[in-house]
Amino acid sequence: MTTAENSDPLSDFPSPVRKTNGGGVRGGGLRVALLYNLAENAPRTANDPPDALDELDHEKNVQAYAAALRGAGHTVFPMEGDLSIAPKLKRLNIDIAFNTCEGYRGDSREAQAPALLEMLGVPYTAARVLGLALTLDKAMTKRVLAHHGLPTPRFQEFITADDSLDPKLRFPLFAKPNREGTGKGITEKSILHSESDLRDYVSHLIKMYRQTVLVEEYVDGRDLTCGLVGNLDPRALTAPIPLDALHSKEGHTGVDYAGVHLFPISEVDYTVYEPGTEPVYSNKLKVTLADKYRGLCPAPLPDEAAAEIRRLTLEVFRRTQSLDMARVDFRLDRRTGLPQILEINALPGVTPISDLTLCAEAEGWTHAQLIVAVMDAAIRRHGLQPRPNGRRAALNPRRPARGLHAPTIESRIAG
Ligand SMILES: Nc1ncnc2c1ncn2[C@@H]1O[C@H](COP(=O)(O)OP(=O)(O)OP(=O)(O)O)[C@@H](O)[C@H]1O
Ligand SMILES: [Mg+2]
Repeated sequence: MTTAENSDPLSDFPSPVRKTNGGGVRGGGLRVALLYNLAENAPRTANDPPDALDELDHEKNVQAYAAALRGAGHTVFPMEGDLSIAPKLKRLNIDIAFNTCEGYRGDSREAQAPALLEMLGVPYTAARVLGLALTLDKAMTKRVLAHHGLPTPRFQEFITADDSLDPKLRFPLFAKPNREGTGKGITEKSILHSESDLRDYVSHLIKMYRQTVLVEEYVDGRDLTCGLVGNLDPRALTAPIPLDALHSKEGHTGVDYAGVHLFPISEVDYTVYEPGTEPVYSNKLKVTLADKYRGLCPAPLPDEAAAEIRRLTLEVFRRTQSLDMARVDFRLDRRTGLPQILEINALPGVTPISDLTLCAEAEGWTHAQLIVAVMDAAIRRHGLQPRPNGRRAALNPRRPARGLHAPTIESRIAG
């Protein structure tokens, strides 16, 4: 591995030292540790909620990530992202880790594998420790968004079900666990019409998920999500983001801005569900009814509204120190017509059927191209170069690039 100038002005990773080309390098790409947390390896307790495993990964998805990375010429070493990685990464002479670890427990579980990688001095994909610890915590993230004047529903974080209710909050309210994903704990009961609904459901969520509960004003409106790959150029990290740069060009549904590629915005289509189904993207819709899911992508939105959602996505991305990829979830308030930010997924699912993948596919990308684009963003950010005889993405374009982060390599899922 050789180094180019590191494009991350804040990176404090040690400059990688060129090592020998190691045994078994195929195609001259990098030596990549593919880190995952499988549902089957999760520590279980008798009191786990029924959706405890829903965010965790499965072997067939890992095979798809590995095939994509191998298709780009990397040598891939898949491994469970637990304490056992320390000696393995050293022994295998790993250049970079592709991180998909959701973590099994702890208030910053998504930040644990990155913390270990930082201690080992191994670069990795996606957000770093602080960014992942922050964005897993929805209330903390909303405090950061509010500091930057970004629109997010008014809220209160409940530590106990008896906390006094902030009189500024207006019913209906909405309750969800503060640090979960995949709609965990989100059911039809999350919509609260009265204080007694609130006390009951907050008490249930605290017992079930053993964490604080986020109670927000309920936003009646359309569910939208905006995903991206890449990283903002250093000068774009703090400069105002001009709305007129975020309109999609004719015939394109994605947008490139200062090093980031934004995928078409997607909307949850609720018309496919039985009448009476909860009008929120709950755990049931995300998991039990996953086969029914239909996204409208690109979502039918006026140009101005789409550009504003992209602007907010970039704002949230940069203010939360997200890197390489992310997906920001919104509700478009039916009353005001304005988008409200619900959360950012700084480590969004990248399985073949994850929302981010579907957004990329709506633009003609393959799942493999998405995985490689995330990898390439991290490689560029860390200033890594291919090993000798390397077959790097940019050297082997599949089709004319639509922007800095359009897929640049022929890669297939080999099964
Ligand atoms: N304040 C709110 N008002 C209305 N609906 C909400 C609100 N908060 C959440 N929802 C509904 O719940 C869904 C999931 O919320 P959120 O994205 O916060 O959960 P998550 O479990 O982190 O999701 P992900 O699967 O993206 O990780 C939203 O898409 C929306 O339908
Ligand atoms: Mg979400």
